[in-house]
Amino acid sequence: MLIDLDTRCQEILTRAREGAGSVASPAELQQLRASFLGKKGAVTELLQGMRDLAPAERPVAGQRVNALKAELEALFDQRRRDVEAATLRARAGGPVDLTLPGRGRFRGHLHPITRTARDMAQVFGGMGFTLAAGPQVEDEWFNFDALNIPRTHPARDLQDTFYVTDDVVLRTHTSPVQIRAMRAAKPPLRVICPGPVYRCDWDQTHSPMFHQVEGLWVDENVTFADLKGVIETFIGEMFGKGTKLRFRPSYFPFTEPSAEVDMWFGGRWLEVLGCGMVNPKVFAALGDPAYDPERVQGFAFGMGIERFAMVRYGIDDLRLFYENDVRFLEQF
Ligand code: FA5
Ligand code: MG
Repeated sequence: MLIDLDTRCQEILTRAREGAGSVASPAELQQLRASFLGKKGAVTELLQGMRDLAPAERPVAGQRVNALKAELEALFDQRRRDVEAATLRARAGGPVDLTLPGRGRFRGHLHPITRTARDMAQVFGGMGFTLAAGPQVEDEWFNFDALNIPRTHPARDLQDTFYVTDDVVLRTHTSPVQIRAMRAAKPPLRVICPGPVYRCDWDQTHSPMFHQVEGLWVDENVTFADLKGVIETFIGEMFGKGTKLRFRPSYFPFTEPSAEVDMWFGGRWLEVLGCGMVNPKVFAALGDPAYDPERVQGFAFGMGIERFAMVRYGIDDLRLFYENDVRFLEQF
């Protein structure tokens, strides 16, 4: 009887090995395992057959069947690991290196324009400028008249303006904040104002909504040399000391003399800011003796944040900043 049991155990084991060798998926293996170790499996059947054995033979027979069970379990476990690894390899299209670190979670970050604006404010903060602000929907008086651009002035045409009503505009530059800052505080004054501005403009270097940083420094002995020094220090801090830039004579109704500054970028000059000495007419329009043009002088500048971001990140079309294509934004 025991010899018969041995033969049957051997037979089951052989069948299990053959079956395990040919399964291709974890599901198939699960089925195979059940056909041996499940409720109606071959091993269970074997155990039930023990009822027919002589009582003296039962303990030895039990040991044999338990040994068979352990061997089958080890066989199926090993095979399960192999099949799983093979499935993973097939899915990955090659060997899998389990020592590689896991994939990180996707994390958002600040928009490149926000980041550039913050860095610019930081550099000016180091030079003693504090932050000022003004509305984006602005009275035309602040946006134009107070800056020596009356309605009849041809310079109104220099900026293509979005009108909200007859005398309210979307501010075309941050310069109206100069007026608001001077109405709110006495000199000496040193402020910057970063923020959005709007113009009917659209090409590779112009966007209808873009950002400027306005700067204004008013005191008793401020000269054009101070203006140049501030701009050069700023560019040096942002882009490195050897950065190629040029001051080009220009015209703004609210500054005299005026200049525009270009940076060398992508094989050509890119205009990045306008600046100049505050026109005495602007001081006079305030009607505040503290800003008597005989006593105080000042300089102002207005920088295009997108232009600096273009140079900084090597982008030759600023419209990319506003298409909100995540594939573009993710690179920063
Ligand atoms: C002005 O807006 C003046 N308010 C600047 C100023 C301030 C002069 C204080 C003197 C004293 P301008 O139109 O050139 O000037 O614009 C200033 C800068 O904004 C430009 O040099 C450019 O860098 C940027 N800029 C102008 N238009 C656009 C636009 N459509 N898209 C992106 N950047 C622009
Ligand atoms: Mg300009």
